[in-house]
Amino acid sequence: MVDLRQPPNEGSPVDTPAQASDTRAMTRPLFITFEGIDGSGKSTQARRLTDHLRSRGLDPLQTREPGGSPGAEEIRALLLTGDPARWSAETEILLFTAARRDHVEKTINPALKEGRPVICDRFADSTRIYQGATRGDLRAIVDDLHTRMIGREPDLTFIIDMDPGEALSRGLARRSGEDRFEHMGLPFQETLRHGFLALAKDHPKRCVLIDGNRPEAQITTEIAARAEAALAI
Ligand code: ADP
Ligand code: TYD
Repeated sequence: MVDLRQPPNEGSPVDTPAQASDTRAMTRPLFITFEGIDGSGKSTQARRLTDHLRSRGLDPLQTREPGGSPGAEEIRALLLTGDPARWSAETEILLFTAARRDHVEKTINPALKEGRPVICDRFADSTRIYQGATRGDLRAIVDDLHTRMIGREPDLTFIIDMDPGEALSRGLARRSGEDRFEHMGLPFQETLRHGFLALAKDHPKRCVLIDGNRPEAQITTEIAARAEAALAI
């Protein structure tokens, strides 16, 4: 089995203290994810951050989960359409993890290896919360499977927080047809919100909590500043 855990910066000059002063201007690849409840503005901010980094001369890859590779996009359709009760949480864990494995193998790792920042709309934190903490306590199973099959975390995660009622009406207004989870209702979204807030607290180094109840451009300014600091640009 191919080990996906290889750190993206392995061998990068910025990891060598002796060379640090010479390489200040160099950027390092960075794996950035967006998380939060449905309709909170993740896709919007992922796109805006990608555009911003492009304007700063970088070549970021924007991607999403579930999906982001041809095989994973096929699994996406199974997961996001149809009856809300179509899959148990346990089956969802397996399907999301299968999609993620393909996405990491085929899309994320190759881009990081080329030195490109990767901006991903949702990743393993979504499985931890949507499957791990809404329909029974399955968090240990999610974490175990993640360790065995994925084995890598983002370098930086923006968790966009906002009122679930407002986010749900924003999300459902899109009528994307991929709204199986949105049809699980408001109490489900409230549970998700608390899960994401707890996650941000548990991982203060990696996770940045963002107030999503503001104009898009204002949110982007905050996110871009954080990303630039992490990228040292
Ligand atoms: P998510 O990816 O979290 O589901 P989206 O980025 O698709 O959220 O946004 C959901 C809807 O809300 C879209 O119609 C989008 O245009 C709108 N939207 C996104 N950000 C904001 C914002 N800061 N204020 C108002 N509406 C927003
Ligand atoms: P997405 O298009 O990201 O939804 P939204 O734009 O509404 O936030 O669709 C992904 C849906 O799948 C979303 O409802 C969250 C859910 N999901 C999980 O339940 N577990 C996961 O691991 C992932 C990646 C997504």
